[in-house]
Amino acid sequence: MIEHNLSVPSERVLVLDFGSQYTQLIARRIRELKVYTEIIPYHTPIEDIKRENPSAVILSGGPSSFYEEDAPKISKEIFNLGVPVLGICYGLYVVVNAFGGESGGATSREYGRAFISVNSNSRLLKGLGQKEQVWMSHGDKVLQMPEGFVVTASSDNAEIAAIENHNVNVYGVQFHPEVYHTTNGLKVLENFVFDICNLKPTWTMESFIDSSVDAIAKEVGNGTVLLGLSGGVDSSVTAVLLQKAIGDRLYCVFVNNGLLRKDEEKQVVERFKKYMNLNLIYVDASERFLARLKGVEDPEQKRRIIGKEFIDVFMEEAQKIGRFDFLAQGTLYPDVIESVSTKGPSDTIKSHHNRVPEVIKLIKSGKVIEPLKELFKDEVRELGVKLGMPEELIYRHPFPGPGLAIRIIGEVTKERIKILQHADDIIVQEVKDAGLYRNLWQVFGVFLPVKSVGVMGDKRTYENVVAVRAVTSVDAMTADWAYLPEDLLRRISNRIINEVKGVNRVVYDISSKPPSTIEWE
Ligand code: XMP
Repeated sequence: MIEHNLSVPSERVLVLDFGSQYTQLIARRIRELKVYTEIIPYHTPIEDIKRENPSAVILSGGPSSFYEEDAPKISKEIFNLGVPVLGICYGLYVVVNAFGGESGGATSREYGRAFISVNSNSRLLKGLGQKEQVWMSHGDKVLQMPEGFVVTASSDNAEIAAIENHNVNVYGVQFHPEVYHTTNGLKVLENFVFDICNLKPTWTMESFIDSSVDAIAKEVGNGTVLLGLSGGVDSSVTAVLLQKAIGDRLYCVFVNNGLLRKDEEKQVVERFKKYMNLNLIYVDASERFLARLKGVEDPEQKRRIIGKEFIDVFMEEAQKIGRFDFLAQGTLYPDVIESVSTKGPSDTIKSHHNRVPEVIKLIKSGKVIEPLKELFKDEVRELGVKLGMPEELIYRHPFPGPGLAIRIIGEVTKERIKILQHADDIIVQEVKDAGLYRNLWQVFGVFLPVKSVGVMGDKRTYENVVAVRAVTSVDAMTADWAYLPEDLLRRISNRIINEVKGVNRVVYDISSKPPSTIEWE
């Protein structure tokens, strides 16, 4: 079953995912063209696909070889939907084999940059130069042409690098148009979406807001919705969008676990309650969390305790409010994809906390609302800005659910939290003042319970260490330590040692991920 969407435009492209690392990029690029696109697993039943009534279908690449025993196969019915189909890499072999051609192992594999010669009669490659740089990533190639198709491009290594058949409106490319290294890749997708499929560029954030607000209002009716608000970007944007649709029938529960950044609970309450007039229930459960964490040093145990305690507090509050009809979550598109695909890189990523068994049960009974489920992170930020939310909130760095507990090495105590909050606040403030905050993925302090000797005003000190962690990244999967200017590091160090009681040494973390991780625990 395709997870039911609250509101999807009538014109849309479906991407069937065969497990390529680039599948999400296909969707991303087509959305850049303002056409709505969704990814579904390749094994989605054809009846479900028909019900979705797509305007076009794209078959993604994938890691398999078509003739491997368990290689993903799909129903040929996909070519009888009466809409244009484009196969990319593995998708090309699916097309070839469906129409009586043949693909198989190439004598030499082709990975990375390559050049194709383009046939000027191609519809898909219209407007491209005679020679074009493309990105290849394949071990197989087309050995025998499918019936009724013509070759529209060739490379040194693959004579049949692109094919098309105008009668059935089916196209295939060996290379990856969605990858930046394919110089005119976006032009290829444009040709497909606008010229071949005849779609209109109508998918904009404004249209998304309008259609989501309508859909939420319709779905919720007179009911009530409960949302766990963390103060982070995703849950905050979810809250504002829901409020726009259903007003004060939205109940937001904000749990202070005592592990937040300095003054964060005050800021969240002030911002959402006072300025945004949100129906916000603030729960100070910090003592409870601290008591449970007493004596605990193991990072995973900290995570488990905090996760469980959060659910307990949240459910207690939900019961106090009484009956609620829906649970809302700030789940984003990549989270959904990670949990639905079954082959390739998409399913090797961690299971997501928004898809735990309890929530899946609620989703199946139609009790979960996830208005951002169609969006990527940068789209959520754009949406937040369009909803009039302050940039300071929209561009905040990610903050882990277990909060400062995984930035305090060893046992979490009140004193350590206070020291770290103060040091972290100085770090963030200084980075913001230097105008570098938006250049970084994350920047924060880590409390190290290591005592070292220092000297202050002729007196010997014996205090803790704070590490400064600053990284650049695009998705947190890999990260580089950031090269912060010397004078900024000097100011951060001076201020922490002078202003934060309990710290007499500051160090800078120069480890990248992998092999380290962004957080220390
Ligand atoms: P690592 O440390 O694995 O972090 O390189 C990658 C990204 O995930 C965040 N992170 C977490 N977020 N619960 C969360 O909600 C966690 O337990 C957790 N651990 C790490 C981290 O801040 C970074 O953005």
